[in-house]
Amino acid sequence: MADYQIERFSKRIRVIDQNSDYTLTIDTAERTHLKPFRRFIFTIPRFDKGKMHVTARDLPDYSLEVQNLEIEPYKQYLEIGSGLGEFMPDLVKQLAPDSPKPIVIDYVDYHLLMGMIDYSKNLSLSKEINKRCEVLIDRASTILNPKKVTLITSPVEHFLLDEENFGIADVIMDHFAASLYSHEKSLNERIKKILKTNGVFIWEQEVKKDHPKYHER
Ligand SMILES: C[S@@+](CC[C@H](N)C(=O)[O-])C[C@H]1O[C@@H](n2cnc3c(N)ncnc32)[C@H](O)[C@@H]1O
Repeated sequence: MADYQIERFSKRIRVIDQNSDYTLTIDTAERTHLKPFRRFIFTIPRFDKGKMHVTARDLPDYSLEVQNLEIEPYKQYLEIGSGLGEFMPDLVKQLAPDSPKPIVIDYVDYHLLMGMIDYSKNLSLSKEINKRCEVLIDRASTILNPKKVTLITSPVEHFLLDEENFGIADVIMDHFAASLYSHEKSLNERIKKILKTNGVFIWEQEVKKDHPKYHER
């Protein structure tokens, strides 16, 4: 049974799940310069140590390489660390009924995230916040739908221990996820083993200064 503690500040509210130590910080200011994905920040315990932010970028907040990626419905896509970003739910919409099911590897517990968003929605903080909650619930539901996505709730480091997982993906995406946060310097080289021959690994770990959105941050 969920047990939430709420901390209220003048312009933000924090919902803490006492059982898991997951925290959701929502910026509640009426007018805010924060982009939607920065307005809702989840913080969860890292699988190795410390804390991890789970973000929820909208597509225009992704790197240009991701925004310009042409989706080919018969390729096997795999995303590491989807969080609540829009890339995977949008990809799912673009695939055909007989496309290979995309794979998500993320150790975050999407059920816990959904519960916390649902709880926050019931606080009725504002219309805008409720709308955002609905968007995020929709994203989490897509990732949790086994008909649409194969979800592997695990650190990619664990996934890489099984050689049966090698050579399975045409396109791997890691957008501000394991490649950025891992302490292991050779992780990217190991991730490439998941690719088929001629597969593509797209990874992003720094905000590009030439990104059109950069200056709005
Ligand atoms: C900063 S969020 C990025 C979310 C999304 N890709 C975006 O760009 O908004 C990092 C996500 O990567 C996941 N993650 C980080 N390290 C990981 C690892 N080693 N294996 C699997 N998932 C990982 C976290 O749980 C979190 O959901």
